[in-house]
Parts: sequence; C-alpha cells; structure tokens
Amino acid sequence: MDALVVDHAAPGLLRLAPVPDPSPAPHEALVRVAAASVNPGEVRALGGAPAGSVHGWEASGTVVAPAADGSGPAAGSPVVTVGAGGGWAELRAVPTSLLGAVPAGLPVDHAALATLPVAGGSALRALRDSGPLLGRRVLVTGATGGVGRYAVQLAALGGAEVVATARDAAAADELRRLGATAVLNDPSELDGPVDAVVDTVGGPVLVEAFAALGSDGTLVSVGRASGRDAVLPADALLGDRSRHGRTIRTFFLLDGRPGLDRDLGRLAALLGRGELRAAVDHVVTFADAPAALAAPRPGKLVLLAHGPDGPSLAR
Ligand SMILES: NC(=O)c1ccc[n+]([C@@H]2O[C@H](COP(=O)([O-])OP(=O)(O)OC[C@H]3O[C@@H](n4cnc5c(N)ncnc54)[C@H](OP(=O)(O)O)[C@@H]3O)[C@@H](O)[C@H]2O)c1
Repeated sequence: MDALVVDHAAPGLLRLAPVPDPSPAPHEALVRVAAASVNPGEVRALGGAPAGSVHGWEASGTVVAPAADGSGPAAGSPVVTVGAGGGWAELRAVPTSLLGAVPAGLPVDHAALATLPVAGGSALRALRDSGPLLGRRVLVTGATGGVGRYAVQLAALGGAEVVATARDAAAADELRRLGATAVLNDPSELDGPVDAVVDTVGGPVLVEAFAALGSDGTLVSVGRASGRDAVLPADALLGDRSRHGRTIRTFFLLDGRPGLDRDLGRLAALLGRGELRAAVDHVVTFADAPAALAAPRPGKLVLLAHGPDGPSLAR
C-alpha cells in the first residue's frame, strides 16, 4: 500500500511511499482509509516522529477485514478510527475499541467523518468531564477551532446555555448558528459566572476562564493552542465569594477509558442525521499532502486517500 511516511528532509516532513500492508492483531480491524483530517497536535508531533513511520491520528474508511476476535463491525461497514499513528495510509489496522461504526442507513461523507474522532471525540469527552449540561452555563474557548466548534454544538445539544469565545468577531454569526447564545472576544467579558469551561486555548484565556467559574464548577483544559503559560495570580485560587470548590482538570482523549468506540459511533450518527456539522475547509489528496502541510492555511485540512480517479496515486 501507499502511505504518508515521516521524512525529516521532505516538504511538510512527509513523503508518499510504498510500505508493507499492516498485519492486524486479533483485536484489530483492517480499514481501507478514505479520508483523514489534520490536527494541530499531530502536525507538531511530526518533527519528533521516527523517520519512515506512518503518521496520522484519525481516519474514516470502510472495514475490509473485521477483527479476528469477533469484536467490532463487519466487513463493508463505514467507520471512523483514531490512534497514535497509522491513519495516513491506504490501509489501517486499528483496535476495535478505537473505531466507531457509522449506523446503517445514514449518509456517509468520509471527508466530514474524518474530522470527528479527535476534535469531536475530545469535545464530547471534555464536556462529559465538565459535569452535567442541561440547564447549565458552559464556556467554550477557542470556539472557532476543531475541538471548539464541536464543543459548542454538543453542549447546545446537551441543553446547556453556551458562551463561546473567538478572537475573530466575524466568526460570531457562525458560532451562533452552531448553538452559542453569546460570543465574546475573551472570558473577561463575561457578565456572570459559568458552571463549566472547555478550554482549548490555555495561557491568559485559561486564567480568565477559571476566574469566571462559579462554585463547584470544572474547567477542563483540553489544549494550549495559544502556546502561552497560564500564570494564576496569587488570589486566583481563593474560594471566596461563591467561588469555592472549583476544579481544573487535565484531559487526554486516548486515556484508555472504555466506550470510545460507542462515543465515535454516536458522533457519526449525529453527523449523519445532520444534528452535528463538520467544518472542512481544505481538501487535498495524499499525494498533495506534503505540499499542503509545508504551506499550512487556517482551517481544517482533510486528506483524501484517493483522488476522483480511484486508488492510483501519483508520487
Ligand atoms: N488533550 C487532548 O487529548 C487533545 C485532543 C484534541 C486537541 N487537543 C489540543 O487542543 C487544542 C485545540 O485543538 P484544535 O484542534 O481545536 O485546534 P485549532 O483548530 O487550531 O483551534 C485552536 C483555537 O484556539 C484559538 N487560539 C489560538 N491561539 C489563541 C490565542 N493566543 N488567543 C485566543 N485564542 C487562540 C484559535 O483561534 P483562531 O481561530 O482565532 O486562530 C482556535 O479557535 C490544541 O492545543 C490541541 O493540541 C488536545
């Protein structure tokens, strides 16, 4: 098969190259990849990845060989997958615990599905870690990002009043369409406390968001997109004035908690039913991925394993 392998001397640190087909373990399904989406963390990880390794955390595709242990969906099932690598390839062997099946009868849009596992999965689980949603006020920072967009939609679907923050005021209308009731530039503009925070920005935004958290509220720190240090002022941890019992919780999607397969399937169902919207800003084939990663553009990049003419990829 062909795969995007790490090459530290190549543009975008990637090269499309022939590699041996993966050999699935008994608990792994073999999936023919249709599309993969690109996350900021995996682009950062490219620099430290071993040369020759197959990169890529998430991919959508179709099961070609079900897991030998009987777990997971049957051959022919459309699926979304996640893992620490191996997604940017024509074939991926993936544990069935890290694979969600698209429910039968729903439309299958592989480019949209490919954006779900990391961003949607993280949004879903971070919201769950933040506590109940129904009737509560939830702040999502970095709401224009991959995780943020899904967090806004899922929090609204869960019955929360969603406040979103975005640096770009032009994003406000779109975020309102996704379910935000208010869109602010940063958390310091909040007019009152929130019950929970999903923070993807870190740095001063995390500090301001924590200051806005009411009693017994939880801030889930999903990411640090700002790349800045979060420095809490001396009195930030005081539990006075209805701010007692607050928690900052760290997060890792692949923490081994059970049920990620079900969560990914549920997200795929929401997407297929049109209750969740994916953002796909740029689409290129695997062959064009090194150039696309060498000259990154804002927005969500999706890589298609095959161009419109089928599986023969120019190298
Ligand atoms: N822990 C985990 O398991 C896990 C899982 C998934 C993601 N993550 C991490 O979560 C973070 C978000 O991921 P993502 O895929 O959503 O990234 P993304 O699509 O790049 O979105 C980043 C968001 O942060 C905003 N932002 C960046 N710098 C900012 C700053 N200085 N001030 C205010 N806002 C700023 C961006 O706003 P603009 O649109 O204005 O640029 C955008 O809304 C990343 O750090 C990622 O590595 C962690």
